Amino acid sequence: MSHRTILPADLGSIETNALLCGGVGPRPIALASTLSAEGIRNLSPFSFFNAFGSNPPTVAFAPNRRGRDGTVKHTYLNAVATGEFVIAGVSHAMVHQMNVASAEWADGVDEFPKCGLTPRPARLVKPALVEESPFQMECRLQQVVELGSGPGSGLMLIGQVLAFHVREDCFSDGILHPDRLDLVGRNGGAWYTRASGKALFQLPKPAAKPIGYDALPEVLKQSRILTGNDLGQLANNAELPDLSAAAPWPGDATTPEGLDRAIQRALGAGDIEEAWRLVGLRIHL
Ligand SMILES: Cc1cc2nc3c(=O)[nH]c(=O)nc-3n(C[C@H](O)[C@H](O)[C@H](O)COP(=O)(O)O)c2cc1C
Repeated sequence: MSHRTILPADLGSIETNALLCGGVGPRPIALASTLSAEGIRNLSPFSFFNAFGSNPPTVAFAPNRRGRDGTVKHTYLNAVATGEFVIAGVSHAMVHQMNVASAEWADGVDEFPKCGLTPRPARLVKPALVEESPFQMECRLQQVVELGSGPGSGLMLIGQVLAFHVREDCFSDGILHPDRLDLVGRNGGAWYTRASGKALFQLPKPAAKPIGYDALPEVLKQSRILTGNDLGQLANNAELPDLSAAAPWPGDATTPEGLDRAIQRALGAGDIEEAWRLVGLRIHL
């Protein structure tokens, strides 16, 4: 399949934004709670958001210049004026209220009563926590990074986390369980991702020193059946097993295609040992 090459210089800022948002996703959503210099609450979602370090715990989000006219958003003004913000994770149970908070409410409008989410006092900063959110962070503004000056340009706010607030039932055996948090992420256009249920899967950490794809037998790499993910699982082995003395068992496939499919089935079932046994047969065909 061919790839389309697109240069930002050939796009307008709205098209560039659509491309970035579609391709860089799903993005976590920060529901940012701030206070204006006059003490009026603000609550708005931002998906240009992530965590960047844990010592000290550091997060950043970007209430950018409006694509329409290059003006700055209330959240940006508030955070810069007060040096504080709260970031609330957005669970699936909150998405429609989060959406209401994202509307272009006029200056001075408190979005909490507009969207019906519940403000609660924070411990160390003045902006309010959001009762309904399963995971929240009280933050102190550390740095503002301006990424341009025109419409749609980035205004990244980097903050240090002073306190976490996690809903008690989100812990499972001491760690946060994605099914309990049920967070949502944003993709492009009107698309969102729900990070729980069937969307979840686990991936074991790679071996300390995996053998690597380039060490795999050539016949496997030439296979029209085995996929990049299949070969990736084999490449993750800590060592290349001794495949010299492989002998078939009754019922084993005897054609290259049959063996490749059997390797694939074994990998799909998580039986890496069986997959390597079959690789032994495959390379001696
Ligand atoms: C899910 C979601 C994610 C958003 N992410 C961003 C973002 O990362 N940056 C941004 O500038 N606007 C983003 N927006 C739009 C803002 O929420 C919107 O402009 C809001 O009205 C800003 O409010 P404020 O002026 O009160 O700060 C997002 C909207 C939604 C619904």
